[in-house]
Amino acid sequence: MHPSSASWAYGGRLSQLRAWLLFAVSALAIAGAFALLAVLTRTPAVQLLGTAEGLHRAIAGHVTFALLVWLLAFETVLWLLASPPECRPRTFSRSLLLASAGSGLLIVAVLSGRGAAVLTDYVSVIVDPLFFAGLALFAAGVGGAAWAAVGHVAGTRSLLQHGMQAAAVIGVLALGACGTALAWLLPRDPAATDFVFFQSLFWMTGHLLQFVNVVAMTSVWYLLLDAGFGAGVRDDRLARRAYDASVVLAMLLFACTVGFDSRTLPANLGLSVAMGLAAALPALVHAALVVGAIARRRRGWSSPEGAALLCSVTLFVCGIVLALARVRTGSSMWIPAHYHAVVVGGVTMAFMGLTYTLIGRLGTMAWPRLSAVQPWLYGLGMLLVVAGMNWAGAEGAPRKTFDPALGAAAARWVTPMNVMGAGGVVAVLGGAMFVLNALVSLATTARVRADAPVIPIHAASVHGRIR
Ligand code: HEM
Repeated sequence: MHPSSASWAYGGRLSQLRAWLLFAVSALAIAGAFALLAVLTRTPAVQLLGTAEGLHRAIAGHVTFALLVWLLAFETVLWLLASPPECRPRTFSRSLLLASAGSGLLIVAVLSGRGAAVLTDYVSVIVDPLFFAGLALFAAGVGGAAWAAVGHVAGTRSLLQHGMQAAAVIGVLALGACGTALAWLLPRDPAATDFVFFQSLFWMTGHLLQFVNVVAMTSVWYLLLDAGFGAGVRDDRLARRAYDASVVLAMLLFACTVGFDSRTLPANLGLSVAMGLAAALPALVHAALVVGAIARRRRGWSSPEGAALLCSVTLFVCGIVLALARVRTGSSMWIPAHYHAVVVGGVTMAFMGLTYTLIGRLGTMAWPRLSAVQPWLYGLGMLLVVAGMNWAGAEGAPRKTFDPALGAAAARWVTPMNVMGAGGVVAVLGGAMFVLNALVSLATTARVRADAPVIPIHAASVHGRIR
């Protein structure tokens, strides 16, 4: 047994892991509830919410709890897993207090009706002090945990530590980009609308956070490869170089944009494409390594981890191909189709798969059979959402729009949006299955099972185990 893992376990870190996992899955539950409101309002056959303001608040709540809180909270679980023994558990409990207090303020701001919803890219905003206080507390919580986790990693690093250290470095860059954007935007131009101000403030940060999400997803792919297929990559040097490439590309893009007025960046299509390619190309290297290893697999596809990995790699690659095919067609529903293929089909699916592995370690799965079906159902639902959104985009459907306000013009995309709606219901059902199974499993198993199997932290280059 690796000496450091003993102190890892008994230092209270397992209870931190459980607490952060509970927090992350709860955030996904909130994001899913808002997704159901948004998807059923944009489904012509339903049109659940009757006002544009209602839809905009639902989308703002959805994006905040899905793209920010759920993903960054789960990435903190990964930073916790990658953290060396000398990293004190108290750091993570303090960070969790900050992050959950922040999330509490965010949900109050969204539901209270205070302030206006501004649907800027990557970071939707409710223009109200409660929302900004919530965002700041949440960022401080996650930022503190990431720093604590990877700041101590020294010497030989496992592949997970290499990946999550790269993600943390890019995370710091993302915070830096927010600071430099603010420097351009203050003092605030009174003529600038809230949309222009916040779009310019968060555009570069939002893009760099997608690098963090993609690097974290590929780090999880290697864990799922082992847990689901009992396989690993033969030589992980190429994988490590791909992580280094993600960091270098993110730094280059950040350096290239610092000197430009942040108000000019969102409209720069060339920069958007460069950002997309820089995030995607190293990930495609990881996808090739993973698919190669699956071909040499020892076990079948029946495990929840194996199913999640297959769906994640497939939907992620589909999302990249979709963006390359549609990038010159202007703004329409193809953009959320791309988002959902990449950050839901790819990133969220991978994180769901690893949650099953960790639950297996932390205790007992409440409904094991459900976990084997859930990734396929969620994947199928997401495929229909993506296909419906992209088809609607091809018919001219705009993003984040209350269709009844468009009158007869919206008739052109009724069928594709109904397909999106049907897929949305299936995906929400798959999401609810995951949330229920995870929350019940985590809540009902207070103590680590003594006979729990060892989970290697990355088979290819094992440096640590959770015991
Ligand atoms: C049950 C699964 C989900 C469903 C049914 C769903 C549905 C939707 C819908 C209907 C919209 C509004 C699209 C528009 O009107 O333009 C939307 C927006 C969005 N969703 Fe989801 N969503 C789901 C899960 C997620 C997850 C897990 C994430 C991130 C991890 C996510 C990220 C986003 C983002 C970033 C947007 C804004 C898109 C844009 O700016 O164009 N979604 N979602």
